[in-house]
Amino acid sequence: MPLITSKEMFKKAYEGGYAVGAFNVNNMEIIQGITEAAKEENAPLILQVSAGARKYAKHVYLMKLVEAAIEDTGLNICLHLDHGEDFEVCKSCIDGGFSSVMIDGSKYPFEENIALTKQVIEYAHEKGVVVEAELGKLAGIEDDVNVDAKDAAFTDPDQAVEFIERTGCDSLAIAIGTSHGAYKFKGEPRLRFDILEKITKLKPGFPLVLHGASTVLPEFVQLCNKYGGNLPGAQGVPEEMLKKAGAMGACKINIDTDLRLAMTASIRKHFAEKPEDFDPRQYLKPAREAIKEMVRHKIKNVLNCSDRA
Ligand code: G3H
Ligand code: 13P
Ligand code: ZN
Repeated sequence: MPLITSKEMFKKAYEGGYAVGAFNVNNMEIIQGITEAAKEENAPLILQVSAGARKYAKHVYLMKLVEAAIEDTGLNICLHLDHGEDFEVCKSCIDGGFSSVMIDGSKYPFEENIALTKQVIEYAHEKGVVVEAELGKLAGIEDDVNVDAKDAAFTDPDQAVEFIERTGCDSLAIAIGTSHGAYKFKGEPRLRFDILEKITKLKPGFPLVLHGASTVLPEFVQLCNKYGGNLPGAQGVPEEMLKKAGAMGACKINIDTDLRLAMTASIRKHFAEKPEDFDPRQYLKPAREAIKEMVRHKIKNVLNCSDRA
């Protein structure tokens, strides 16, 4: 069964008022945990790979692991490049079999972002691959992009419409207050739903994307810290806000940090309780289970996409 694009998934998500989860993958246990949860919940699924993940695991391993997951679960999966920073990395993923890529030109001035995005789209569409672009700047840290909170800029709705129309992108990541990583809000979490609403009004049916959408559930931070971690208390995007965004046209919601926290908390707990263990299977098995439970939780309580596969 080949990979699918996100086109149909997003159409159904928009019409159904829910979101598809895009989860970052780096190794076999993460892929297995995510796909087992999606299978059991009968949920649509996007697996996404960052440049860092490709460096860590190698493209070919991730590709083969995702193929194995499709064969094992029978799921329809969209495989997406997360935060492609230039044409070359997008081309490499398109040539290497991905069904979707992101070109992240958000750090460039508007016209340069448009030109770069168009270059990727021209190549991708020719090969049946869909393209996510980004307009506006999230605060936080990504692979090679480090945007201070003071430099973050919300997406301008009128510019977003112009960007979508001039580039022909298939989906657009917008900045409405989310940010990457575990430390998202200094004070009260606040999302600019008015921006989301305005773009959706101007471009009904067009799929919008939210990056930096981990909730950083306090129990996982506490669990990490209980067993020797040293994470400061963090405030992520509240789950009800994400659910609301999903109902308003955010068709793709990106989650990485929450999976990292769940996996790390599980491994820390394991070694605190069984310091004598040295068989990787003994700690990776519960870690895989922790990923699965986190993804199941997201599918049911945040994305609202159970039984929508
Ligand atoms: O937004 C970035 C993702 O969380 C991927 O993180 O670049 O450390 O793999 P990474
Ligand atoms: P989080 O760091 O909030 O999980 O965001 C992940 C993301 O946006 C990946 O592109
Ligand atoms: Zn992101």
